[in-house]
Amino acid sequence: MSSIDLTGKAAFVTGSAGGMGAACARKFAEAGAAVALADLQGDKVAQQAESISKDTGGKCISFPLDVSKWDDVESAVAKAAAEFGRLDIMVNCAGIGMRKPFDEFTQGDVDRIFDINAKGVWYGCVAAGKVMVKQRSGVIINFASIAVRLGVPHLTVYAGSKAAVCAFTQGLGRELAPHGVRVCAVLPGHVRTPMMEKDLELWTNHGTEEEKAACFAELVAQEGIPLGHPQQPEDVADTVLFLASDMASNITAQIVSIDGGCTISY
Ligand SMILES: NC(=O)c1ccc[n+]([C@@H]2O[C@H](COP(=O)([O-])OP(=O)(O)OC[C@H]3O[C@@H](n4cnc5c(N)ncnc54)[C@H](O)[C@@H]3O)[C@@H](O)[C@H]2O)c1
Repeated sequence: MSSIDLTGKAAFVTGSAGGMGAACARKFAEAGAAVALADLQGDKVAQQAESISKDTGGKCISFPLDVSKWDDVESAVAKAAAEFGRLDIMVNCAGIGMRKPFDEFTQGDVDRIFDINAKGVWYGCVAAGKVMVKQRSGVIINFASIAVRLGVPHLTVYAGSKAAVCAFTQGLGRELAPHGVRVCAVLPGHVRTPMMEKDLELWTNHGTEEEKAACFAELVAQEGIPLGHPQQPEDVADTVLFLASDMASNITAQIVSIDGGCTISY
């Protein structure tokens, strides 16, 4: 039996106070990596780091971080790399969702979505890429969404920001390949994280847990998942773990869906 061993490696995960970022950080720590967790929710990410470190015995540090601020991203990544003496894995997971009819988005909404979901990912790519190019090794994994392949009404601006992430990933993957650095993106499907909870609260008008579960099941049924069930944060984190590992050493510039077959592309 083979398993993934990241002993001696160091990872940085943005958005790691939230559902999928925290799951990725935990998987890395379980595999033996030292992990830096960063999130806008500074207190929550510090608690996550403490809890993961306690459960896994691994080294975890945390940063309060707004990924939409270029200098702050550069500085947090540099501090983590200095603390660990290296940076092998960068996961740009921080993101926000926003569903509105096209004529209800304000200029501020559009700016905020692109600042965090698209520019924030680019800032993380640049900060980590500089360290990794010098090191001549590393992998960057960016979070996009199946919304780029589905064309979802009311998720237009969000999908646009995530499409930018896919385009960055493909170009940067090829640009950094000669330097020994890989870049991939993941497209999660339907995952019941705090981001999805906000939508469920809205759609059910702050309904009961049963109402929210029924609403989520309806969304999943509408979009049709061949494997028949939605995704868990751990399903996505397992794929991120694989892409971060040497088992994926011949994979770069790729966009990988974790959606039970909901979308296809070739
Ligand atoms: N939940 C889903 O169904 C789904 C589907 C497809 C893609 N995604 C994407 O997956 C990623 C993770 O989402 P999640 O579902 O775990 O959501 P989540 O809300 O649980 O986690 C997102 C985290 O990002 C943090 N964040 C937001 N703005 C930030 C900023 N400016 N700087 C730093 N951190 C910031 C939040 O505080 C939060 O902890 C996001 O990029 C999201 O767009 C989610």
